[in-house]
Amino acid sequence: MNSFAIYTPTRIFFGPDQRASFAESAARLGKHAFVVTGGGSVERLGYLKHVTDALTAAGVTISYFSGVEPNPEAATINRAAAQLKAAGADFVVAVGGGSVMDAAKGIAALAYTGEEDIWPFVIGESRAFQLGGAIPIAAVPTTTATASEVTPFAVISNRAARGKSILIAEFLKPQAAWLNPEYTTGLSPVTTQDGAADILSHIFESYLLGGNESPLADRYSEGVIHTVIETLPRVLENPADTAARGDLFWASTLALNDYQKAGRSESQFVLHAIEHALSAHQPSLAHGRGLATLYPAYLRWLLVNGRAQDRIAQLGERIFGLTGTEQERAGGFIARFEDWLAANGLLQSLEELGFHESDYASIANYAVTTYGDGRELDALGSLPASEIVA
Ligand code: NZQ
Ligand code: ZN
Repeated sequence: MNSFAIYTPTRIFFGPDQRASFAESAARLGKHAFVVTGGGSVERLGYLKHVTDALTAAGVTISYFSGVEPNPEAATINRAAAQLKAAGADFVVAVGGGSVMDAAKGIAALAYTGEEDIWPFVIGESRAFQLGGAIPIAAVPTTTATASEVTPFAVISNRAARGKSILIAEFLKPQAAWLNPEYTTGLSPVTTQDGAADILSHIFESYLLGGNESPLADRYSEGVIHTVIETLPRVLENPADTAARGDLFWASTLALNDYQKAGRSESQFVLHAIEHALSAHQPSLAHGRGLATLYPAYLRWLLVNGRAQDRIAQLGERIFGLTGTEQERAGGFIARFEDWLAANGLLQSLEELGFHESDYASIANYAVTTYGDGRELDALGSLPASEIVA
């Protein structure tokens, strides 16, 4: 196993009965919460009031900001931060999906630094990695997807500039998070599918090109994959199954809390770079949907180029119980995985998502130039664009 350092400051509360404990923990972060929500789902479903009642009971004053869009815009974050300052709030509580949690991170950073525009601080812009801190953040995730409740990332879009990029800083990791599976029973089948695809991608990104040196990270990762493969069909069949929803929820957190890559030689966000380029091109595209569309071509591309055959074969053996030569098990994994994607509403082409071959060059260029420090992406950048995203 290789050396590593991990920082996991998030106090996690899991389960419906953890509401008061979460609220008490959040109340230790400040006196006045700036509660951030999305386009109205958590209000409509009653989750927001359920959370804020507990915060109020714990002695917290509350100001509200709603209207964070999926793939959150920098301008929305800037506007929210100005409202936070006017209200005098001293910590942020996100109640929503990855988009809301990521927006909350941007808002918390602007509140701490006094800056007015978050965009210059994303990767690829003039002040990347120069944010000095963030006021405390608590999160109540309501999708089973991004793990933003434990990550140092905030994915931010700017249609007026060039699309989608990332803030990365350890101080953006939330300090408290409440995962209540009951809050995820209202997710649509499509958002549930998209989220499952995102969970798997977070595992793939370190598993496929991460080397063989961390057998425990492999077993851990395979456990997450197994859980998603088994649980998504159950959840789609019975959306109110809170036990299955909970399994998916916990899998989402475990897939990107850094334990999935501990001891590996490297971890490269190839699929994410290409997906962010897709979303930059088509802002209404859900992150997980874009990833799922890339899986089959990416896995085949790896095999064709003699990359990660042993890793894909190991997945074939351990996830689907396949036998045979390494080549057979690797090819078999891709075929079985594609069947699973199809059976769970996650297999589609880029054309079906509305992309055209004429878009591919600019998509590939965006992926490579935005995240061009990734070695794998540099390799991708030397290929004809059609081979990367087709
Ligand atoms: O806007 P509202 O009304 O809240 O509706 C949302 C939205 O339409 C809805 N929703 C959320 N919770 C719900 C619900 N509907 C019913 N019941 C609930 N309980 O779901 C829709 C999608 O929400 P969104 O937050 O956009 O989805 P997701 O959680 O998949 O987040 C996607 C964003 O996270 C970024 C993605 O790039 C994308 O911008 N990511 C963030 C990461 C991170 N911070 O570490 C890592 C990820 O890889 C990812 O890139
Ligand atoms: Zn993701």
